[in-house]
Amino acid sequence: MSIHLHHIERDGAVDDEEALEQFQRGWATYQKVIDHNALSHREVAAVLRENVSALSDPIEFLDIACGDAGQMAWALANGQIRRYRGIDLSQSALQLAVKNLERVPFDVDLYHSDFVAELTARRHASDVSWCGLSIHHLTTANKHTLLQALQETTSRFLMIYEPIMRDGESLESYLDRFERKNKAAWTFLDPAEWDEVFHHISTCDLPESPRGWMELGRDAGFSDVRELFVDQNGLYGLYRYDR
Ligand SMILES: C[S@@+](CC[C@H](N)C(=O)[O-])C[C@H]1O[C@@H](n2cnc3c(N)ncnc32)[C@H](O)[C@@H]1O
Repeated sequence: MSIHLHHIERDGAVDDEEALEQFQRGWATYQKVIDHNALSHREVAAVLRENVSALSDPIEFLDIACGDAGQMAWALANGQIRRYRGIDLSQSALQLAVKNLERVPFDVDLYHSDFVAELTARRHASDVSWCGLSIHHLTTANKHTLLQALQETTSRFLMIYEPIMRDGESLESYLDRFERKNKAAWTFLDPAEWDEVFHHISTCDLPESPRGWMELGRDAGFSDVRELFVDQNGLYGLYRYDR
């Protein structure tokens, strides 16, 4: 099977350049968070695997902000994947993705580009689209525009895993709650690494309430919208939007 890495040159700044720079500096720290399953990546990959393997015909799979695609070989192993497309702005993450996907039994195309530009231009039709922890950097209006584009270009379903606030909770209270739940528990990070993670979250993250994430899907035209999983701290939710 083939793996292609496409570099896409485009004019203009990306929506969340600051978020990207911080992420690139903090890749090793983020990897620790994943390795300790602090954001429930394992449970989420299991739900994705179950949903994809339930489809009996071959599919085109789109991974939005794929990062290093670290869990995709496992999550997609039981599915009938015809082609995997991943989009990410981080060249170093995509180089890791090439390694992580080198043995998968399907074709892989990786796009070094801004997912907002790629998707709003409707450049990537797929059967199943997936986004882990990345749409929440966008404003509510921009999330709506993105989901609308995905509704038009995704033939089966979209799944997203993103931060959630309680109904009526302010961003400030959400951040307090995040800090209270995680600061003492994430002993695998040293204080500087925690500060780096929390700085990123408190300057870049724009969570929605579960109701907000589901309304965004309905407003974008998806016919069926479901919550499939919430992490044990009530800070992240997994949503499925069916065409
Ligand atoms: C928190 S990581 C999530 C990685 C992976 N999806 C996961 O669930 O672990 C965010 C990823 O989004 C990428 N990213 C952020 N903004 C982006 C944009 N506008 N276009 C493409 N990738 C972007 C970053 O480079 C990074 O790999």
